[in-house]
Amino acid sequence: MEFTESALPEPNDAERERAESVAAVLRDRMAASGGAIPFDRFMRTALYEPGLGYYVGGRERLGRGGDFVTAPELTPFFGYTVAGQVVDLLARCGGGDVLEAGAGSGALATQLLAELERLGNLPERYRILEVSPDLKERQRRTLERTLPHLMDRVEWLEDFPAEAWRGVVVANELLDSLPVHRVRITEEGLKELHVAPNDSGGFQWREGPVSDPRIADAIGSLDGLPAGMETEVNLEAPAWTVQAAESLERGGVLLIDYGHPAAELYSPGRARGTLMCHFRHRAHDDPFYLPGVQDITAHVDFSAVAGASAGAGLELGGFATQAQFLINLGLTHRVESYLGAGGVSDEEQLQLATALKQLTLPQGMGESFKALLLVRGVEGPFPGFRQGDRAGEL
Ligand SMILES: C[S@@+](CC[C@H](N)C(=O)[O-])C[C@H]1O[C@@H](n2cnc3c(N)ncnc32)[C@H](O)[C@@H]1O
Repeated sequence: MEFTESALPEPNDAERERAESVAAVLRDRMAASGGAIPFDRFMRTALYEPGLGYYVGGRERLGRGGDFVTAPELTPFFGYTVAGQVVDLLARCGGGDVLEAGAGSGALATQLLAELERLGNLPERYRILEVSPDLKERQRRTLERTLPHLMDRVEWLEDFPAEAWRGVVVANELLDSLPVHRVRITEEGLKELHVAPNDSGGFQWREGPVSDPRIADAIGSLDGLPAGMETEVNLEAPAWTVQAAESLERGGVLLIDYGHPAAELYSPGRARGTLMCHFRHRAHDDPFYLPGVQDITAHVDFSAVAGASAGAGLELGGFATQAQFLINLGLTHRVESYLGAGGVSDEEQLQLATALKQLTLPQGMGESFKALLLVRGVEGPFPGFRQGDRAGEL
C-alpha cells in the first residue's frame, strides 16, 4: 500500500454518518459485553459489519480515488511479473485453476490473466473469492471491459471449493486486513487491550485479560521484550491459510503482504506494534478514527502462517522480500523489453520508473512486503525464490 503521512483530511457528511452508525453498533456490543470488547472484535465490526463495515459498505477504497494504492494498482507490471510464478506452479501441477482471494478492484486478476494468455498458459478457471459485494461488481466490470473474451473462465465463489482441485491460490494484501488482537507487555505479564467507549463519543483502550491462549503462544517468550511494548497478534491469518489450502490437492498458495518472521515482528525494535490506518491516502495509527470509513491493517506474522501450514501438510516453497521475489521473476527485464520496443511516452516512462521504485526500494514496499509460497504435491526450486530465499528465518 502506498500512502502519505500528513494531517488527516476532514470526512464529508456521508462519511461522518457512516462512522456514527458503526460506532453505535460498537457501543451496543461493548455494553452487551460488560463495557468493553477485545480489539479484534472492534476491527471485525469496523471492517466487515454487513452493509456498514469498511470492506462491505460500498465505499470506494482502492486506487487513486480511494484510501490507498496497492501494488497491482501502481503498475500492471506487478501482476505480469507475479504471473511468472503462477505459470511455473500450473506447469508443475499439469494445469489447473487460479483462485484469487480478496481481488480488490480486479487489477491483479486482469494482469495475471492477460499475461497467462500471452504466455499461452491460461488456467482452466480463474476463480475469485471476495467478501465485498460491491468489489465483486467492480471486479466483474473491470474484467468484462479489459478481457471480455476470457469471461467464460472467470467465476466468483462464495467459499473455498469443497471438492479437491489443483492449481494456485493467490492473495495480495488480504492477510493484513484480517482482525488482530492487540496486546501490551506489562511487569505482570501479557495483557490484552480491549476497547471501551470514552466520554466524548469515541473509544479508548482498556487493559484486560488475554481472551485466547493462542495469543501468548504466538508471541512466545516475553524475555527481552520491554514492559510497555504493544503489538498485535493475528490469529486469523494462519487459520485462513490452512482453510485456503484444505481442498488443494496439488499446487501452491502464494501470499504477498506486509509482514515479517515472528522474531522480527515481536522484537524490541517494534515496541509500538504495526497497526496502521488509511484514510484518503493518509496513513496514521489511530484505529478509533472514523470506524467503518478508514482501513485498519497490521503486519503479518509469516512464521505463524508457515507453522500452521506445516501442521496442515503444506511445505514451504519460499519466502522472500517483495523486491527479491519480483526481481527473481524478471521484473526489470520485462520492463526493459517493454521500453525497448519503443513508442512509450516520456510521461509513461516516468510513471513506470516511479512505480518500480515503490515496488522494490526498501523505503517503499520492497522490504516490508514479503512473498510466501506454500506448496503441496509439487517440488521446487521455484523461480520467485531463486535467490534471497529467507525461508530459514521463519
Ligand atoms: C487491501 S485489499 C487488497 C485488494 C487486492 N488484492 C489488491 O492487491 O489490490 C483487501 C481485499 O481483500 C478482501 N477481503 C478481506 N477479507 C477477505 C476474506 N476473508 N475473504 C475474501 N476476501 C477478503 C477485501 O474486500 C479486498 O478486496
